[in-house]
Amino acid sequence: MIRSRKQARGSAAPAFLLALLLTLLVLATVYVFAAHLFPPPPPITSTAMLVDRQYDLTVYVAGIVFVVAQLGLAYAVLQYRDRGQRARFVRGNVMMEILWTSVTLIVFVSLAIAGRKAWGQDRFTEAGSGAIQIEVTTTQFVYTFRYPGPDGKFGRLDPRLVSAPTGNPLGLDPNDPASADDIVVPTLTVPVNHAVELLLRSQDVVHNFFVRELRLQQDAVPGMMIPVHFTANRIGQYEIVCTQLCGLGHNTMHSFFNVVSESDYERFLKRQAATQ
Ligand code: CUA
Repeated sequence: MIRSRKQARGSAAPAFLLALLLTLLVLATVYVFAAHLFPPPPPITSTAMLVDRQYDLTVYVAGIVFVVAQLGLAYAVLQYRDRGQRARFVRGNVMMEILWTSVTLIVFVSLAIAGRKAWGQDRFTEAGSGAIQIEVTTTQFVYTFRYPGPDGKFGRLDPRLVSAPTGNPLGLDPNDPASADDIVVPTLTVPVNHAVELLLRSQDVVHNFFVRELRLQQDAVPGMMIPVHFTANRIGQYEIVCTQLCGLGHNTMHSFFNVVSESDYERFLKRQAATQ
């Protein structure tokens, strides 16, 4: 039986429902971001503030694109719903392809250029000669921090001497005089407003060093010594977490990061030196 065009016309309800759903999705998403429902903890370095600014800029740009695209989709769903018309086949439009590819390219490259200072401060500048060097060793599923002690030199490590149960988790070589004053502790303590350089290494698999307030995240990779640096400007205790799935105990792998006054830092070093 041949039905007329008019009879073949589908219901408008699915199109209206889908358009409504898309609009609600847009409103809910904009609300989550605009109301700051999940605010990040305040940044504690000047670089972290730049990272936040870059993040906000990216969210604004991506947010505008998201709203325009989703509302445009809702409009198209309504406008081109089944009204009994003949389906039209379109092979695409080269001009439109060139246009939106170029726009995307320009937006992404511009964001990258805007963010180059924050990225450069983190990744392409040296820590400076006055920075305090602290070695960070990751292993399943703990962090171990080593301070070079008064001589300013890290003692030699020997993998054959690694033995956590006997109190030598890093494998410090007792025959190296430089290792005698090294301080090995399970938490990280640094003085406020002082440049710090961490030297990240791993004894087994890839782990990660992440402190939200520093906006700093870096993998620790076996066989590599990866430096990262920062200057924390607020006294407090923060959490260090591992963000690489490193085994069954990954979810328990964390430590603490204490930013203390200069005098408290000196006291910390003395106290630790006396007990090592
Ligand atoms: Cu170490 Cu996850």
